[in-house]
Amino acid sequence: MSQSQTSWDEQIPEQALTLPSRYFYDRTIFEAERDRIFMGAWHFGCHVNELSEPGAYVVRDIFDQSVILMRDKAGDIHGFHNVCQHRGNRLLNETRGVQKGLIRCAYHSWCYGQNGALKGAPRSQNIPTFNIDEHRIPPVRVQEFAGSVFFNLDSNAIDMETLFPDAEAAIRQSIPKMDEMKLVQEDDVIIPANWKVIMDNSIEGYHFQLSGPHHVDLASLIDFSEYNLVHKDNWWTYSAPANREAKSAYGVPVDSDIDASDFFNIGLWPHNTFYQFPYSKCMGTFMMIPLDEEHTILRFGYYTPYDELPEVSRAAIDWMNNDLGPEDIDLNISVQKGLHSLGYDQGRYMIDSERSNESEHLVLHFHRLVFRALHGINQSHQ
Ligand code: FES
Ligand SMILES: [Fe+2]
Repeated sequence: MSQSQTSWDEQIPEQALTLPSRYFYDRTIFEAERDRIFMGAWHFGCHVNELSEPGAYVVRDIFDQSVILMRDKAGDIHGFHNVCQHRGNRLLNETRGVQKGLIRCAYHSWCYGQNGALKGAPRSQNIPTFNIDEHRIPPVRVQEFAGSVFFNLDSNAIDMETLFPDAEAAIRQSIPKMDEMKLVQEDDVIIPANWKVIMDNSIEGYHFQLSGPHHVDLASLIDFSEYNLVHKDNWWTYSAPANREAKSAYGVPVDSDIDASDFFNIGLWPHNTFYQFPYSKCMGTFMMIPLDEEHTILRFGYYTPYDELPEVSRAAIDWMNNDLGPEDIDLNISVQKGLHSLGYDQGRYMIDSERSNESEHLVLHFHRLVFRALHGINQSHQ
C-alpha cells in the first residue's frame, strides 16, 4: 500500500486511488471481512410471503453457517441454527419447503418445533437429568424489514432501522407493491471473483455506455442524464426515471398499459440489493454471498406482485439472466484476473465534483465502509 492506512481513508475523493489489489484476493483480508463484516451483517433471507403458512421455511447458508427461517402456527417467524442439538447433524437440506409437523433429525430422530424447541428425544425418559428444555436450538436474530426477512448471526447487532434510517421508506416509495411480492424464481451463479468486484460493478454507471451492447440497451431504457447515485452512510441508491420515449423493453413493445416505473436500486450494507428495472413490473434481489476471497455466489431473486407473471416481466428476467447479467459477470471475472497483475495495484476513482451519472463516488464510499470495518476506524458522516 503506497499510503498509510489512515491516509488512504482520508483521500480527497476527486484525487483518490482505489483500494490496493490485495484487498480483492488476499486470504487474510478475506478472513477479516468474514469476521468483522459478514458475521455481524444483516443478510436478506427471503420475502415475508415466502413464509406464508405455518411450517414454511427458507434455509440460508453463509460461510460454514446454515440458518433456518421458519413461520410457526401462531404466525411468528423464527430464526435458528440448522443443527441438531444431539450430535450436530444438519437438520434441513432443502432451501425451501413446508415442515408440516415437527422437524425430525434424520440421525436419531430428535424432534423440534417450528421455533427450534426440542419436543422429543427417543429414550430420553431413561436418562436421568435429561431436561428437554435445555436442548433448544440456539436462535438466530431475525428482523422483518421492507416486507422481507433478514437474519443476523450477531445477536447484539444494531437493528436495521437504526443502521439504515429511512431506507425502508425509500424502498416502499419506489416499489409500492413490495408487500405483495411473491417469489418467481431464484438463480445462484458462482462467480470466480471477489464479492467487492461484483459490488463495485453494480454501483457505478460509468461503464453503462462504454462496455457491452446490453448495457447500452439498459441505458436506452432510462433517462440516463437523470441517473443519480446517492449514499447515506450504510445504504445507497442509484436510480433514474424510465425513458418515456422507449418503444420496447426487453424485446416487448412498450404500450400505454405498461407502467413506466423508475429504474431503482437500493443497497443495504454490505451486500444486499433490491432493484426494479424500468417497465419490468417486477422486483429483483441481487445478493453477493462470498465463498472465499476469489469466489462469490451471485444470487438473482425475482419477485412479482401479479398472480400471473406479465410478459414484460418474463422478458426482463430472461434478459437479466441471459444478457445483461453475463455481460457484467464476464467483466467481473476479467477484473479479478487483472487484479493479480504485477502491473497493477491501485487505480484512480473517476469521481467528478458534480457526482454525475458516470462518477464513481459510490464505489469509493463502499470501499471506505469496507476499509473502516476492516481497520476498526469509526465511520464519519460525509
Ligand atoms: S444427531 Fe440428531 S438426533 Fe442424533
Ligand atoms: Fe453493469
